[in-house]
Amino acid sequence: MNKYIRLFFIKISFLLISINCFSQSDHKLVVDVSKTTATIQPTMWGIFFEDINLAADGGLYAELVKNRSFEFAQPLMGWKEQKQNGGSVLILNRSNENAANPRFARITVKGSKPFVITNEGFRGMGIREGNSYIFSIWAKNNAIAQGKVTVNVTDSSGNKIGETSFIIDSKNWKKYNLSFQATATVLKAKMNLQLENPGIYDIDMVSLFPKDTWKERPGGLRKDLVQMLADIKPGFIRFPGGCIVEGRDLTNRYQWKKTVGNVEDRQLIVNRWNMEFASRSTPDYFQSFGLGFYEYFLLAEDIGASPLPILNCGMACQFNSAEAVTLDAIQPYIQDAIDLVEFANGSVQTKWGKLRASMGHPKPFNLTMMGVGNENWGPQYIERLAVFTKAVRAKCPGIKFVNSSGTDPSGERFDFLNGELRKMNADLIDEHYYRPPEWFLQNAKRYDHYDRGSSKVFAGEYAAHGPGNGENKSTWLCAMSEAAFMTGLERNADVVSMASYAPLFAYVDGWQWAPDLIWFDNLHSYGTPEYYVQQLFSNNKGDVVVPITSNDSVLAGTDSLYASATVDKKANELIIKIVNASRQEDVHQLDIKGVGLKENKVSVITMNGALTIRNSLENPTLIAPVSSMMEMDKDKLRISLPPYSFKVIRVKLM
Ligand code: AHR
Repeated sequence: MNKYIRLFFIKISFLLISINCFSQSDHKLVVDVSKTTATIQPTMWGIFFEDINLAADGGLYAELVKNRSFEFAQPLMGWKEQKQNGGSVLILNRSNENAANPRFARITVKGSKPFVITNEGFRGMGIREGNSYIFSIWAKNNAIAQGKVTVNVTDSSGNKIGETSFIIDSKNWKKYNLSFQATATVLKAKMNLQLENPGIYDIDMVSLFPKDTWKERPGGLRKDLVQMLADIKPGFIRFPGGCIVEGRDLTNRYQWKKTVGNVEDRQLIVNRWNMEFASRSTPDYFQSFGLGFYEYFLLAEDIGASPLPILNCGMACQFNSAEAVTLDAIQPYIQDAIDLVEFANGSVQTKWGKLRASMGHPKPFNLTMMGVGNENWGPQYIERLAVFTKAVRAKCPGIKFVNSSGTDPSGERFDFLNGELRKMNADLIDEHYYRPPEWFLQNAKRYDHYDRGSSKVFAGEYAAHGPGNGENKSTWLCAMSEAAFMTGLERNADVVSMASYAPLFAYVDGWQWAPDLIWFDNLHSYGTPEYYVQQLFSNNKGDVVVPITSNDSVLAGTDSLYASATVDKKANELIIKIVNASRQEDVHQLDIKGVGLKENKVSVITMNGALTIRNSLENPTLIAPVSSMMEMDKDKLRISLPPYSFKVIRVKLM
């Protein structure tokens, strides 16, 4: 065979190999980097925090003592007296001198033996060997007695794993601060106060914190949980919810002014999730507000997220009491919003700016937006919203407002609100969807036909709810469906300015709502598959959207394929997100048009697995992103998509 014939055969076999490479697919994918279709807002991917599932007290807020100020409905809930030694506890109320924190415990110690009172923590206290713990208490010694108190932490067998002591030496209320080092790691420890000498003692604000909080702030937040939030690199953080904003009735609504200043002056109230679901009743769920609005703003700043507080506009939860304030009584709600802007942004000379400074943050927090109402609906909402927005806008012109479109992404309530809000030129409309995974797969084009010149969308609460009841339902099917849907949000970034999965946190032994993004016990935490999907979208956001098509059509479900493409201008990289929601492996040729490529190495992150896979405390990363490298052939990339997979591909541009 002469060399020409040989060459001919080599070429033919190459051709056959390449045909074979791409023959499993009907798709030739094209990305045109020269065409920008939308600008992505820095706020695009954010997080939704609500104190549900013990997310604040017992969760992010690192306080280990439950019912530290005896203000729960049952004042000794969480506490146990060891009565065998004599002595007693009496709960007293001094509401005339301290309306926010009226109760305290009076302990009478009789006889020669010490009296012990034990706190069980939030279903135990997580204690780590070698770590320091800060104990504090407000106390008063009524009779002149020696007043020695030993504080220890014990494991389930009663073994001491840390101890300190002090003397209550004052007849007046005085704060005592102590610390000790733990000698063992225990998931569900208890704390005992042993009053050694006969006498009468008053105690309040009994507290135990790890020293090792986020940024080592005294009385701060759980480090591992904040780190998980920081790792998402969220564009915003919405707080404090959720339905908790509304309250079951108006007296139970979230009032930010009661959550700032000294912690001992923050008035505890019941958490609405305490009794919301009979099957997940949580009688010990209250809000101490140790994690209050100042701490939320600080958290936002720490993790580089824009703060998005949601305020009550005079309406309680419409699934519960549906109480609404009369229009002539709405002024205090408006004033709360105006004062909040002053608290966040005002100079230190102003009343609320001064309070912010006194709490440790003289610089403003740069608040630029607020939500008005959570899942409120009906003409009563529109009526209150109009009055509220007009008044707040007049005083705070730089603030953008997020408005509710109710509880569902379609139906009468949604259609009414969506129409009214667009007529009012709402800045941002908050849409919520808790739907089966199929809904997410079928709705990847939801925003393709929205009016580009009207109000923007905030996909403020969403999660795919798969099958399964009374358990953690965060499977790969849910996460993959959300990833597919999120490519549609990203492709429509000119309409969708913000999005957040909900809810964020759940405590394994005390949750009310599932699925959730992050689960934790007293010492550990893990991200669900959804967590990693959120992280991948946010960490690979890009600045502008460019088209990725197959046969000139967007990839939004045809042949179970979903994709979006963006350009990160600073890194000068093309980012492609692509989901194969079918059970077949898919191989595609991707052509990149409109720009030269800097190098032929391409980084790829893949998530894939069986649809039923989920992570757990025992197997926290059973499904998690896996990084690899691929090579381009000129401006073409052969991408193979395993069954049920999500890939993020980054290509360096010239
Ligand atoms: O995310 C849990 C709840 O779902 C929120 O509190 C509420 O807004 C929605 O109904």
